[in-house]
Amino acid sequence: MSEFVTDIQKLREKARANIEKGPLMDDYGADRQRVIEVLNEALATELVCVLRYKRHYFMAEGINSASVAAEFLQHATEEQGHADQIAARIVQLQGEPDFNPGTLQMRSHAEYKPGTDLIDMIKEDLVAERIAIESYAEIARWLGDKDITTRRLMESILAVEEEHADDMLTFLKQFDALH
Ligand SMILES: [Fe+2]
Ligand SMILES: [Fe+2]
Repeated sequence: MSEFVTDIQKLREKARANIEKGPLMDDYGADRQRVIEVLNEALATELVCVLRYKRHYFMAEGINSASVAAEFLQHATEEQGHADQIAARIVQLQGEPDFNPGTLQMRSHAEYKPGTDLIDMIKEDLVAERIAIESYAEIARWLGDKDITTRRLMESILAVEEEHADDMLTFLKQFDALH
């Protein structure tokens, strides 16, 4: 490991210059506009997931519906939390979170699939989670060490999406509905 060296005087001057940028330093390594765009796509993805899980929560019926509905509701709440975290980060990066409902579905990576029966809903949710997992992992790799905070945010959300996917897979196995 190489030596950690920093010029304290330089560090202090740098911090004092451009204070209007708040948390953003001059050498912010990522393309800020592009990061904001990508985060807005992730925000749209989360919002579509909230709506889909809500629909599934209210529409879940049948013999096994109670435990599944409870899980749908919990996921809806967690996706809303992700949306909030992403929106807050966009503002920290001095961008604007896009909540426009008119273009939400178009901008989202995952789709809004209403689902017909319980199994169908669970399958669609699993697919949507797998899309989120793939795209968030890609975002995290793309950010690398250029914007560590955004990368860590996406990594922490990614971990929850993996849990969500696993929850859905567990239901499909439980109901013997994998194929
Ligand atoms: Fe999420
Ligand atoms: Fe999820």
